Amino acid sequence: MNTENPVTRFRAYRVHEDRGTVSARLEDLGLDDLCPGEVVIQAHFSSVNYKDALAATGRGKILRRFPLVGGIDVAGVVRESVDSRFRAGDKVLVTGCGLGEDHDGGYSEVVRVPADWVVPLPAGMSLFDAMAIGTAGFSAALAIDRMEQNGQHPDQGPVVVTGATGGVGCFAINLLSSRGYQVTALTGKTGARSCLAGLGAGSVLDRYALAMGEHPLEKAQWGGAVDNAGGKTLAWLTRTVKPWGNIASIGMAGGAGLETTVMPFILRGVSLLGITSANCPLERRSRVWQRLATDLKPTQLDAIVTETVGLEELPDVFERMLSGQHQGRTVVRIAASDS
Ligand SMILES: NC(=O)c1ccc[n+]([C@@H]2O[C@H](COP(=O)([O-])OP(=O)(O)OC[C@H]3O[C@@H](n4cnc5c(N)ncnc54)[C@H](OP(=O)(O)O)[C@@H]3O)[C@@H](O)[C@H]2O)c1
Repeated sequence: MNTENPVTRFRAYRVHEDRGTVSARLEDLGLDDLCPGEVVIQAHFSSVNYKDALAATGRGKILRRFPLVGGIDVAGVVRESVDSRFRAGDKVLVTGCGLGEDHDGGYSEVVRVPADWVVPLPAGMSLFDAMAIGTAGFSAALAIDRMEQNGQHPDQGPVVVTGATGGVGCFAINLLSSRGYQVTALTGKTGARSCLAGLGAGSVLDRYALAMGEHPLEKAQWGGAVDNAGGKTLAWLTRTVKPWGNIASIGMAGGAGLETTVMPFILRGVSLLGITSANCPLERRSRVWQRLATDLKPTQLDAIVTETVGLEELPDVFERMLSGQHQGRTVVRIAASDS
């Protein structure tokens, strides 16, 4: 890395482990404290995802090295780059790729990453909007992209979105409904009914009142599904999606297990599509981000973003997220800029 124009000290939210106990705090770091990379970014915004909450609290084994700056998303302006694809002043974003997992992440005023992870900010998208979308919106868009590549169409019937009030869920509802799908939201927060309707959900189901049945095949009612829950919910989806429908498996907020049979696959032609935003190849990653600025542009970003916080407020957001009280998206303001 070119060490001319050295970056001075900057603030970062770093996660430590001491004899099995994970803790995180705001610290002053220098560039030499960060993992190597070709591109140095002055961060403007980051965001909070479920994975960030698991990582920083130690309630999920997400981090693969310690200490590590948290944050799987960042958007900002290139400060310096030894890779010719980027120049100082370029607006860029990074989501996933190991950021905030095994490479120092986005909860930092300065972020240094490999050039292959960096996506130019799509035209018409602000740095704030990029992080309002972040991994959550990108994952929802990637799910729809994969489902439609596999033949999903509004004529097949309503698409059910689980974990509906979460970050991914809100985007899935908004993007699907904007593309002409009927959307059913499955939520544990029935008080959020009108908010979910505002995002585009035509109907809202209470996940606590759901009769899931136990037969290998139950009445087919969904054209497709975007699942953030996993576990019993995902098993129920396999039993209830109509012939040739797609289930995009994104999350495991309700469990990592999956107990089902092959019947939905061999008798109904149902497809189970895996969504891994962190490992999405660069070409597909760039294309989906372009779509998020054009034909898959969210129309309800203001409603989906429920708060903007500073780095010092992260612990409180993590607690609310892990206790199921969080709704929508939290953007993290890192620099005093609105661009
Ligand atoms: N595969 C990927 O690339 C990828 C990318 C992003 C996120 N994810 C995963 O996707 C999931 C959602 O992420 P997120 O950022 O949207 O998280 P989030 O904002 O915390 O939302 C999770 C939602 O899941 C629902 N939920 C909570 N506990 C549940 C339970 N026990 N059973 C069923 N539903 C439950 C809640 O919604 P309701 O109260 O409305 O039901 C909650 O708001 C997480 O598991 C996350 O790790 C995966």
